[in-house]
Amino acid sequence: MTKHADHEHPGFDGTKPSTTESGAPRESDAHSLSVGPDGPLLLHDVALVEKLARFDRERVPERSPHAKGSGAFGELEITADVSKYTRAKFLQKGKKTPMLSRFSTVAGELGSPDSWRDVRGFALKFYTEDGNFDMVGNNTPIFFVRDPMKFPDFIHSQKRTPDSGLRSNNMQWDFWSLSPESAHQVSYLMGPRGLPKTWRNMNGYSSHTYMWANEAGERFWVQYHFHTDQGVENMSNEEAGQLAGEDADIHRRDLFDAIERGDYPSWTVYVQIMPYEEAKTYRFNPFDLTKTWSKKDYPLIEVGKFTLNENPKNHFAQIEQAAFSPSNTVPGTGISPDKMLMGRVFSYPDAQRNRIGTNFNQLPVNAPVTKTNSYDKEGQMEYHHSGDAPNYAPNSYGRPYQAEETPVEARWESDGELVRSAATLHSEDDDFGQAHTLVREVYSEEERQGLIETVVGALKDGVEEPVLTNVFKYWRNIDEEVGRAIEDKYKSETA
Ligand code: HEM
Repeated sequence: MTKHADHEHPGFDGTKPSTTESGAPRESDAHSLSVGPDGPLLLHDVALVEKLARFDRERVPERSPHAKGSGAFGELEITADVSKYTRAKFLQKGKKTPMLSRFSTVAGELGSPDSWRDVRGFALKFYTEDGNFDMVGNNTPIFFVRDPMKFPDFIHSQKRTPDSGLRSNNMQWDFWSLSPESAHQVSYLMGPRGLPKTWRNMNGYSSHTYMWANEAGERFWVQYHFHTDQGVENMSNEEAGQLAGEDADIHRRDLFDAIERGDYPSWTVYVQIMPYEEAKTYRFNPFDLTKTWSKKDYPLIEVGKFTLNENPKNHFAQIEQAAFSPSNTVPGTGISPDKMLMGRVFSYPDAQRNRIGTNFNQLPVNAPVTKTNSYDKEGQMEYHHSGDAPNYAPNSYGRPYQAEETPVEARWESDGELVRSAATLHSEDDDFGQAHTLVREVYSEEERQGLIETVVGALKDGVEEPVLTNVFKYWRNIDEEVGRAIEDKYKSETA
C-alpha cells in the first residue's frame, strides 16, 4: 500500500495544451504580446505577467539545517510481537504501513555536495491509521549538544562565517572544543561513518530516547535503530573530495536510480527497551542525547523492516515540501524528558509554518491518511476546512470535541526548583567516557589512524590559535594517545 494521495493532481490535465492558472487557453508558450514583432511588451499580457510572477516565487526557503536531501516512499512491515511494550496500532505484528523517508546532510545548502563529511539526516514518516508518526533521526546514535539552547549556535558554527560567507573549520572546531559534550558525536563524525558511501549503505537511529506504552498503560523507554540490509559501507576522504566535484548529487542519484531499477533498499528495525523505573538508576542518563545505552545492558530487539519502493513523482511537492517532526507521535508512543527532544517538538512545526506555510499539514505529502477534526483554522492557503460547522469548542451544535480529559500517556514525574543546568545524577555522566570507548575499543587501529588523519587534515585547513590548543586538549581528554598523535602529526606537517 503506498500513499497514492500524493500522486493525485486535482485540477491537472496533461492531455490538453497549456492554460493560464485560471484555466483559460494560453495563446502562446513562446511569444510575449508586443507592439509589432520587435516592439515593447504590454502590462496587460496576463499570461506573461503570470508566468514571470510565478517564476519569481518558485523557491520556498530551504530547511534551516538539513537543506540538501532527497527521499522515497515505501512500506513498514512489523514482523515481531512487541505488544507487551506498545499498543501503537502500526507497531502490531503483521501490520503494514505506508511511509516516506528523507535523507540529508546537515550543514550544506540546497546545492551542496552529498559527499561532504557530515552527519546524515534519517527522517521517516509513517502514515498510520491513528495519524502520522514521524521518526526524525540521524545516521548517528548520539548528538553534539544536550540542550536546545545550544542548537542554533551549533548550526551557526557549521554553516558560514559572517564576513566572507565561507565554511570555516576554525569556527567548527572552536564550537566543538569549547563544548565538551560534543566529544562523542565528533569522534563518530571523524570516524569511518562520517562519510557513508550511499544513503542505502547507512544505518539510522532515533538517537533520542522515546516512550512506548502498552495496552495496560505500562510505560517503557525506547531507542530505535534502523540497520541497513545493504550493509554499512563508507568512502574515503579522497573519494568523497573527488565526488564533491564530479557529482554533487551522488547520494540523491544513487537512491533514485536504485529504486528506478527495482533494487529496493530496506532497513531492519530494532529497538532497545528500558523498563520505566530503570531510567532513574541506569549508569548513563538515558535522556542525555550525547550518550548511548550499552547493547549488553539493553540488547536489540527486532521489530520489522521497511522497504523503499517508490520514487517521488515530483521532488518539490513530495520531498521539498515534506514536513517531518518528532512532535508527530501516535497513541502507544511518546517523547521523553530529553531536553533536546522537548526543544525539537516545538521547533519543527514552527519552522514548517515559516518554510512551507501555516497550512503545511494539509499538503498531500504531509496530510494524515485519517481525517482530522481540528479547531485550528484559516491562515494562508487553507484548503481543508470545517465548512459551516461551529468553529469553537465547546459548542452545543453537534461538532464533536474532547469533552472529557483523556489520560496523559507520555508522562513522567517531575519536581524541583527552576534551574539552568544539566543533571549529573548517573554514575557515568561525563563528557568523554563514551567517546573514549568509541575511539579506543570500537574503532580498529586502521580506523583510529583514519580519524587522526581526518582531524589533522581539517586542522591544517584554516584552524588557528587559540582554537588549535583547545582542540589538542579536547582530543587528549577523549584519548591521551590519539590526542598526542593528532598534535604531533599536525606539528610535524606544518613545521
Ligand atoms: C531538520 C531543528 C536536533 C534531525 C531540522 C529543521 C529544524 C531543526 C528547524 C528544519 C525543519 C524543516 O524546515 O522542515 C532542530 C533543533 C534541534 C534539532 C532545534 C535541537 C534542539 C536534531 C537532532 C536530530 C535532528 C538531535 C537527529 C536525531 C533532523 C533531520 C532534519 C532536521 C533529519 C531534516 C528532516 C527532513 O528531512 O525534512 N531540525 N533540530 N535534528 N533535523 Fe533537527
